[in-house]
Amino acid sequence: MTSEKADIKRGLKDVVFDTSEASFVDGQAGKLLYRGYNIHDLAERSTFEEIVYLLFYGELPTQSQLDAFDAELRASRSIPDEVIEVIRVVANSHPMDALRTAVSALAAFEPEVNDNSEAATLRKGVRLTAQGPTIVAAHHRIRHGLEPVAPNPDLNHAGNFLYMLSGAAPDEETQKLMDVDFILHAEHSSNASAFGARVAASTLSDLHSAVVTGIGVLKGPWHGGAAEEVMKMAMEIGQPENADEYARNLLEGGGRVMGFGHRVYRAEDPRARHLRERSRDLGEKMGQPHWFQILRYLEEQIMVPYRAKGIFVNVDFFAGSIYNLLGIPEDLFISIFALGRIPGWTLQCVEQYRDNILIRPLLDYQGPMDLEYVPIEQRG
Ligand code: CMC
Repeated sequence: MTSEKADIKRGLKDVVFDTSEASFVDGQAGKLLYRGYNIHDLAERSTFEEIVYLLFYGELPTQSQLDAFDAELRASRSIPDEVIEVIRVVANSHPMDALRTAVSALAAFEPEVNDNSEAATLRKGVRLTAQGPTIVAAHHRIRHGLEPVAPNPDLNHAGNFLYMLSGAAPDEETQKLMDVDFILHAEHSSNASAFGARVAASTLSDLHSAVVTGIGVLKGPWHGGAAEEVMKMAMEIGQPENADEYARNLLEGGGRVMGFGHRVYRAEDPRARHLRERSRDLGEKMGQPHWFQILRYLEEQIMVPYRAKGIFVNVDFFAGSIYNLLGIPEDLFISIFALGRIPGWTLQCVEQYRDNILIRPLLDYQGPMDLEYVPIEQRG
């Protein structure tokens, strides 16, 4: 194919490559539905456990269905000692590298690893969703010279994660903040990491391989890494009065304000609203309003002209300030995104397996053609 004839869609922008029942994203209206339910209702009224059920089975559960599903999640949290040993070996790595390595290691202990049937993939999705927080918390403690804390089946998914990180059960409000954060990150159609996971599934590779792919893709600062970068930026800014000069220098130098812009949203990312409100409330409650003030200054004073280009705040902008106030270090932010997204990756793989076709686009070759092979001894 020559470059004149090729219809190249760089970055696969606006390419619709398949159908999905997982989530609906209207980028112009700033609307997001999981399985038909509006993210605003889900963020305000649901729980992460219920969301995972909804994503996996397509319907909101009855109370008894939710109780049984929650019990399954709680019973699936522990990870083999051998995987803890692997985590010790990579203790000094970034938490996302440790998560990627540990999920890969978990495959060695997964009895259904190569069973790509829908039922087995969902069972594995439950286990990975439940085990993810155990991995992230174990790595975090080991790298600080502490022993991992065993999961506590009396706590919900979000509460148990925070408990395993710090060793202390969180209060209701903190638990709810983490729960909402997981809800907001659970699924987002064909984002880069879910697409990566689907590419892996499209070769009929297994769910663990697909989730490892998703983790690797999510790590970049243009995807899940943005929240970490936002917090680093806020720390460099330090105080609200420094925000103006910092941001103008950044943008004039061709830099990007992380936490703004999105491939699909040309309006505000609907997930951002929930984190904005919670960042403000938590900052005020803790007597530390400066992160929120810095972020709001950037949003309201610096980035306004960018709205004309369709660049608005995204889910990552306020997330980091909440984690920071909860005492969570920046390099854990992407892992928290990943923990929320495991159900979404699982569902995307289920959909891919259900009516599989190998995902294999083309590249327009633009290099030299038909060169003569010269033996090495004759090359000058
Ligand atoms: N700050 C300043 N300018 C920006 C930003 C930003 N955050 N984002 C995009 N632009 C500019 C970009 O420079 C380009 O300008 P021009 O037309 O003059 O060349 C224009 O807006 C279009 O940007 P693009 O890179 O072509 O748009 P894209 O759809 O390819 O990229 C993006 C989307 C998310 C990679 C980009 O907006 C970005 O880098 N944002 C910062 C990173 C970020 O916050 N990522 C998290 C995304 S949401 C969570 C998730 O799902 O991962």
